[in-house]
Amino acid sequence: MKVKILPPTPKNIQFISDALQQDEVVGIPTETVYGLAGNSASTRALSRIFEAKDRPTFDPLIIHISAEKIRQIEDLESLQLVDLTQISPPLRKSLTRIIAELWPGPLTLVLPKHPQVPDLATSGLPTVAIRMPRHPVTQALLTECHCSLAAPSANRFGRISPTSAEAVAQELGDRIHWILEGGPCEIGLESTILAPLPSGEMQILRPGGTPKEKIQELLGIVPFCSPPTLSRGNTPEGTLAPLAPGMLESHYAPQKPLWLLPQSVLDLQPFYRTDLLNKIKKFPTTLPVGLLVFSGDLESSSKKLSQLLDRPTLARALSQKGDLSEAAQNLFAEMRWLDSTPVCGIFAEPCPSSLSLGYAIQDRLYRASRGHDSR
Ligand code: TXA
Ligand code: MG
Repeated sequence: MKVKILPPTPKNIQFISDALQQDEVVGIPTETVYGLAGNSASTRALSRIFEAKDRPTFDPLIIHISAEKIRQIEDLESLQLVDLTQISPPLRKSLTRIIAELWPGPLTLVLPKHPQVPDLATSGLPTVAIRMPRHPVTQALLTECHCSLAAPSANRFGRISPTSAEAVAQELGDRIHWILEGGPCEIGLESTILAPLPSGEMQILRPGGTPKEKIQELLGIVPFCSPPTLSRGNTPEGTLAPLAPGMLESHYAPQKPLWLLPQSVLDLQPFYRTDLLNKIKKFPTTLPVGLLVFSGDLESSSKKLSQLLDRPTLARALSQKGDLSEAAQNLFAEMRWLDSTPVCGIFAEPCPSSLSLGYAIQDRLYRASRGHDSR
């Protein structure tokens, strides 16, 4: 492994800033998940990002901006990121409120692209995704840097997003030189992606760290969520691509199969037994199953599943007290942990709430399970 995890000292931040200036790509902390950053104005750096992640170039990147350099919406134009001439006055008003209230934070805005943004960053789309992260280390880096930073989550394409520097090293350690340490991520899920529509409505392309209710409260309108199969049909092969490729059905996936349970283990009706047994029947009976418990008593849940399936169970809880923020924070780390243990697959309890962060948690669990449910 060639990667070095650097503590965020002023000297290291200066060093990483210089490396970014020379088109290197670097792991950086954000409050949502760790990103793999490169100079957003350099096609060489952008190519390196796609390459390190094995990411198809039809999946556009999010550009991360400095809170110090961007104070108002007009600054997005002067920094040659957004074409404000394409934004109507009422929409500009809504965006000004969003920016004032929700930036810096876990919210990405999809806006008309400035001609200077390389097409590689946006996969040829006429829009660009912009986010102002609130992690102090990355903000310090953005203040130091002479560029904005394109940064997808620092995982290999389709895999679980990393929520610690060590997890980035696991994913990309043999492909990049440096990761800036920023501790465990405060939110643990990617940002919410919000796209204003010409009709004045707001569309959530990906649920995430900013709950829909917060946007609703601020703007007085209900943003709608796009179904995962919506397509824009502009991939080079002419095949259909999702509107936001983070919405690919199978995403955020562990390497082991993950099966979403219909109910929490303690409520699980006995008639589900055959269905669950079918999922694991091809694995040796001595192999334990993993269990991702949402909340409550880990021991009773684990015992119940072991008895039901007649197998040892290795269980982890997202939040003992059922707190959605804590569950979001732990979700990817616990999935990653179970994935690294000798279990045949992971049963996951559904998130009990679709409110607030519950919607995004359930979205990630569902996507992690796609492609495995039928196995
Ligand atoms: O929290 C986050 O957003 C993290 C951290 C590192 O900031 N980043 C992240 O990036 O999740 P990534 O690349 O893993 O996901 C970005 C998503 C992709 O699914 C992409 O399709 C969508 O943003 N996206 C980017 N540009 C877009 C555009 N112009 N229109 C629609 N979707 C876009
Ligand atoms: Mg990602």
